[in-house]
Parts: sequence; C-alpha cells; structure tokens
Amino acid sequence: MTSKTEKLLSLLDGQPVIPVLKIANVADAVPLARALARGGLPAIEITLRTASALEAIRQVAAEVEEAIVGAGTILDAAQFEKAAAAGSRFIVSPGITRELLSAADDSNVPLLPGAITPSEIMAAREAGLRFLKFFPAEQSGGIASLKAFASPLADVKFCPTGGISGKNAADYLALSNVICIGGSWVAPDELVKAGKWDEIEALARAASTLRK
Ligand code: 3PG
Repeated sequence: MTSKTEKLLSLLDGQPVIPVLKIANVADAVPLARALARGGLPAIEITLRTASALEAIRQVAAEVEEAIVGAGTILDAAQFEKAAAAGSRFIVSPGITRELLSAADDSNVPLLPGAITPSEIMAAREAGLRFLKFFPAEQSGGIASLKAFASPLADVKFCPTGGISGKNAADYLALSNVICIGGSWVAPDELVKAGKWDEIEALARAASTLRK
C-alpha cells in the first residue's frame, strides 16, 4: 500500500458505494449531498459533465460538513486544478494520462484514475497507485475481468464503475480485489429533478448497508 492509496482509502473510510452524480441544477447539490450522507453515503463524486459541476462542488464543500465531495470525469490537469480549487477532496478520472499523474503528484488531493487493461494498471502501479477505478466495468468484462486480474495483479484493488446497480452491486463487492463500487443508481435523475430526497436517502441506505 502506498501513501497516496492510503490517503484515498482513509477518506472513503470503507464506504461500499460511491454515488456518481451529474448535477444539472446547482440548487440540487446541497440537498442531494445531505440526503446521501443521511443514508450513509457521505463520500460522493460530482462529475464535471455539467456546467454546474464546479459550483456544485464548491457549495457542497462549503455547506455540507458531513459530505466528502470528490470530482469525477476529470480529463486533464487544468480540470484537476479547478476541481481541487473548488474544494474536491478526491479526484476521479475515467482514464490515466501522464498529465493527470503529474497534476496529482503536484497536489495533496488524491487521484482515483481509471484503468481497464493490464498495461494501464501496470502504468498506474508504477506511479505508486494501488487503487484504481475500473471503468466502464460492465462493458469491459465486469466481474470476469476483475477475477482474472486478482492473481497476476494481486496488489492492485479496484472501484468498478459503469453499469452497476442494485442488481449486481453485491456480486462486485464480493470480489477480493474490489474495495468499493461507484454508480449513479443511488441518485436517479428523475428523483433528483423531483426533489425526492427521502427516496434518495432510502436508496443510499440500502447501498450503504451492502458489505463485502
Ligand atoms: C461513471 O462515470 O463512473 C459512470 O458513468 C457511472 O456509471 P453508471 O451511470 O452506469 O452508474
């Protein structure tokens, strides 16, 4: 275990599911983060896929003390820096590039980059990372691929994301090389749009009680 990996894991603190959020309306960010935290999922990933994302991160970081807000869909160093400056406690990327690794080296904010192939995983490992996002999980061989990596890449652990839902979450969490999983199913767009925070809290509670 390297210090970068340790820092990231201690932030996530054993949380089994990291909600992956796309915030269309910035006013939803704070009540959504509060509902997820009440349901037992304080660590959340707000993706930079909407114009509101950075402001959403800023508001959650400033107003929701119980939340651990991270930024997702970070593609380059400039986005890494903006997301960190907005108050992100961790940074998630769908892939791994030299530029991103170097941005992470220059920052105290830990990076969870995506890796799918043995070569990508080995490149991340060489950079001192032992905990990676496996994305898009279902489309990239899912559980069978992760099982195949467990022996040859034994010291690398994963957070699979992409195509995971309440139906297959427990199967992913049962894998020896999976620490947590990520997904959007705990905060469906229609519930967010309708402000159904209690229903989101209930989805979060069900996800937070999933255990390895
Ligand atoms: C991600 O960015 O991690 C994924 O898009 C989340 O995938 P999901 O919507 O299939 O859960």
